[in-house]
Amino acid sequence: MSRSKIAGIGYYVPERVVTNQELSGIMDTSDEWIQERTGIRERRYGKKHEETTSTMGAAAARIACERAGIDPSEIDFIVFATLSPDYYFPGCGVLLQRELGITKSEAGALDIRNQCSGFLYGLSIADQFVKTGMYKNVLVVGSEMHSMGLDFSDRGRNVTVIFGDGAGAVIVQPSDNPEKGILTTKLHSDGTYAEKLAFINPGAHGGYHLTKMGEEFDYGYPPADTYGEIFITEKMFRDGQYYPNMEGQFVFKLAIQKFPEVIHEALKETGLQTSDISLLVPHQANLRISQMVQRSLGLRDDQVWNNIQKYGNTTAASVPIALCEAWEAGKVKEGDLVCLAAFGSGFTWGSALIRW
Ligand code: UT7
Repeated sequence: MSRSKIAGIGYYVPERVVTNQELSGIMDTSDEWIQERTGIRERRYGKKHEETTSTMGAAAARIACERAGIDPSEIDFIVFATLSPDYYFPGCGVLLQRELGITKSEAGALDIRNQCSGFLYGLSIADQFVKTGMYKNVLVVGSEMHSMGLDFSDRGRNVTVIFGDGAGAVIVQPSDNPEKGILTTKLHSDGTYAEKLAFINPGAHGGYHLTKMGEEFDYGYPPADTYGEIFITEKMFRDGQYYPNMEGQFVFKLAIQKFPEVIHEALKETGLQTSDISLLVPHQANLRISQMVQRSLGLRDDQVWNNIQKYGNTTAASVPIALCEAWEAGKVKEGDLVCLAAFGSGFTWGSALIRW
């Protein structure tokens, strides 16, 4: 079986910069708290009614296509990862396809919902399709418009200050050099703690899982034999129960365990060592998480790419944005061993090793 490679990469972030200072004027938070706990100084917010998750994804995709030397019409397959889609359905894959003007092409589109590790899952899917010879140009996009779905009251401050908008994209193609390209991808999940970092409402059956777990909840669901009005109830609106929630410390502790674990797993499979890694591009969840992972792997500062300071956590977009920035800065050179890793809601986590 041949290998696949990242042939082109691009990213897009909205123009509007939102500083910690600006957020502290809206809710009970401070620049000091946000920087100390997360490393974030600012993030970007898209232009309401002008930009969406799929249009930002398309902007990143156009750059990736250009750098891969292909026209968007040559894309065989699209994998779109997001937790903040334009619509409940259909997914962003087909919207991006329309945005790129390639609706008459033969391309298929797949949407995946793997949150922070969405891009790694997408990359792995693309890798399998290309390695087996099924497709030649697979577009993988991670894009998020978080700003549309955050709680800007004090109640949501632990989540809201962390997230930002943006998009990243790659084109995966067959590699002509068997030594180069994606060496391996490792994917994992465990739904035991699904609700520890979740956006429960609107959903069709949120109450079912919570009742089964013996949790007290009151989202104002209508009686069991009533149909309709299941997605959003009046009570959800009244009580603001339609926002993401996170038990931050619980997630933090698991993240610092799973990141190194899944990186070591990829290294072991490929017979490589941490000392072989040229650059680690971790999902940008929290600067303190990245620093702890760096220490546990024994990597120097210049071997880890962090940009959470500028963009916050952009979930599915964070790995491709960071990888693209690193590449543009000349930090990813031919022959380098690049390690990507992510952990997030689900929980889902994964890694990839790429010989550039
Ligand atoms: O990308 C997906 C995966 N996500 C992650 O990996 C995130 C992992 N978790 C984290 O990054 C951190 O847990 C957070 C950044 C979310 C929170 O930091 P923390 O150090 O764990 O803070 P905490 O949740 O334990 O809260 C400490 C205090 C609390 O006040 P009290 O109870 O000590 O009085 C919070 O109410 O900080 C308070 N707090 C805030 N204060 C000012 C929470 N959010 C804020 C805020 N501004 N925005």
